[in-house]
Amino acid sequence: MKTRHFLSLFDLTPAELQRVLQRASELKAIRQRGEHYAPFPGKVLGMIFEKASTRTRVSFEAGMAQLGGSSIFLSPRDTQLGRGEPIEDTARVVSRMVDLVMIRTFAHATIQRFAEYSTAPVINGLTDYNHPCQLLADLQTFIEEFGEIRGRTVAWIGDGNNMCNSYLKAAIQCDFQLRIAVPPGYEPDEALLKQATDRVVLLRDPLTAAKGADLVTTDVWASMGKEEQQDRRERDFTGYQVTAEIMAQARPGAIFLHCLPAHRGEEVSAEVIDGPQSRVWDQAENRLHAQKALMEFLLLGGQT
Ligand code: CP
Ligand code: NVA
Repeated sequence: MKTRHFLSLFDLTPAELQRVLQRASELKAIRQRGEHYAPFPGKVLGMIFEKASTRTRVSFEAGMAQLGGSSIFLSPRDTQLGRGEPIEDTARVVSRMVDLVMIRTFAHATIQRFAEYSTAPVINGLTDYNHPCQLLADLQTFIEEFGEIRGRTVAWIGDGNNMCNSYLKAAIQCDFQLRIAVPPGYEPDEALLKQATDRVVLLRDPLTAAKGADLVTTDVWASMGKEEQQDRRERDFTGYQVTAEIMAQARPGAIFLHCLPAHRGEEVSAEVIDGPQSRVWDQAENRLHAQKALMEFLLLGGQT
């Protein structure tokens, strides 16, 4: 049987994605009831981090422990990857020893090459191109709030980055309308924009994008690896902060999400992220449940 990977939301069918999201909420309820559910004793997750992380690392490590397995944290600094061992060789070796691999890399091509040579399922823990695990948590959070996301409207405000690309894929997979407000020069992936033409509107004005939206979301202006552009980006993103004024354009009862870490006073005001419409802490917690559901799906070969 061909190894299933999760490098993108497109690696699950829409039906499989719905199943994983539903399972995420079931696993959340199991944990909230204090029940022990550990179906994977002896299973090992290898985690390769080329970039920093709080949520991704903790949620995968805690999630695997809760499922009865364990995980190994690997950074290029302490492995032979940092000394030039080819990714293809690393993939062949590591995947013979562990049951699942999670990778956070800069270039998306790196994870694609790893997956090509890996006999174990590979999970994308963020690349410069996308961040599908975060979208599992975002979609779960939205569904918990509103029941379903199909036919709803989401406003993305800020940088057309890896998170924005993942929202484009989510709009296609889950059939919602996406309004993207980005400054010129910060558009998301062109091919994805083309693919999502019937689901996406590209705008410049954040107020217009937020009008009537059920969800307003954003992310940092300078993603990991782009820190040296911080000053230029602060200038270019003037007017793109998600403020109470922008939230007031959204539908009453709309929610605010942010994958975190956040910069209060840059992409979002403290009033919004710490306000009553913000669901960012539930969203962060849902990383745990959604990824447990994903790992279960991949370990059972999609048979859940
Ligand atoms: N949202 C997210 O992926 O956070 P970390 O960078 O802390 O993992
Ligand atoms: N766009 C951000 C997301 C962090 C979770 C980054 O890539 O740094």
